[in-house]
Amino acid sequence: MTSSSRLEAGHSTTPNSPSAERSNGTMLLQVNGRTCEILADCTTPLLHVLHNDLKLNGPKFGCGLGECGACTVVLDGLAARSCVIPVGGCAGRSILTLEGLGSRDDLDPIQSAFIAEEAAQCGYCLNGMIMTTKALLARNAHPSEQEAAEALKYNLCRCGAHVEILRAVMRAASEAARSE
Ligand code: FES
Ligand code: FES
Repeated sequence: MTSSSRLEAGHSTTPNSPSAERSNGTMLLQVNGRTCEILADCTTPLLHVLHNDLKLNGPKFGCGLGECGACTVVLDGLAARSCVIPVGGCAGRSILTLEGLGSRDDLDPIQSAFIAEEAAQCGYCLNGMIMTTKALLARNAHPSEQEAAEALKYNLCRCGAHVEILRAVMRAASEAARSE
């Protein structure tokens, strides 16, 4: 199975865009609401730029093949696998990473729901689970359990915490509904 065939509805892949490079060789990225100027080859995976240039380590390197979901970010509102997206295709688009969701003192409701449900063992998959949930709830604020499971079905958790993770997604959705 190719990586693209593993992406569920609502996930984004982006073609490379050489025109993203500016005359001085840099690119402008919109990350977590801030404009960042970076110097990188257009074909560099977005994940590497987030880690190495911007020091954003929320997205995790897992497979590097678009298969596991550990590196997920929200790109223009859609869950996207940053390990296989060339940074050149991201210039001028909205990139949200885990760091842009909440802080230790001011958690995003999705993060609070994952804590409340103790939805983790090693935690390595959590970035992908949370960012995929963020994109899901933005496009469907009231998902059924089946819709939530569908959205997360290609995010791998080798610890087998899927039951708790699904409970956390449904808790986040119902708490968001209560605060509407
Ligand atoms: S590290 Fe990107 S999908 Fe696995
Ligand atoms: S909690 Fe360990 S991989 Fe999901």
